[in-house]
Amino acid sequence: MTEKNQFQPKITAFLCSWCSYGAADLAGVSRMQYPPHIRVIMIPCTGHMNPKFILHAFRQGVDGVWVSGCHPGDCHYVSGNLFARRRFAVLKNLLEYIGVEPGRLHFTWISSAEAGRFQEKARQVVQAVQDLGPMRKLVKEIGPAPANEAVRQEL
Ligand code: FES
Repeated sequence: MTEKNQFQPKITAFLCSWCSYGAADLAGVSRMQYPPHIRVIMIPCTGHMNPKFILHAFRQGVDGVWVSGCHPGDCHYVSGNLFARRRFAVLKNLLEYIGVEPGRLHFTWISSAEAGRFQEKARQVVQAVQDLGPMRKLVKEIGPAPANEAVRQEL
């Protein structure tokens, strides 16, 4: 078995509570199988999401981030998802500029009735991140405490 086959990616999914979160829930109650590498965080709307959440997730060591919201025209807050799409397109370009592969950040529209689409996208996102391997950029290094910290702890 190669290192790539053994790699189990960690993926954070920010799902809008009005649509994609419902699709994930429906997939769950319908016993639809999707990869277990995804940790879901419910958000009120993709338009409310600060791009810093994505950077923070990468800094904390996730290998991929998936943001999913309502279809255009269906956003509960009218145009939050359209603002989000623009914002994340800029962020994706920025990440690419600093060397983060574009396949690590995904953005989709999934309504609460589309459990099948959620399952399919979940598989695609996991596969894309798995193919890239572990995230090496942006990950916060947690090394030993500086010498003066160690001395302070002894006191
Ligand atoms: Fe779902 Fe805005 S309410 S994306």
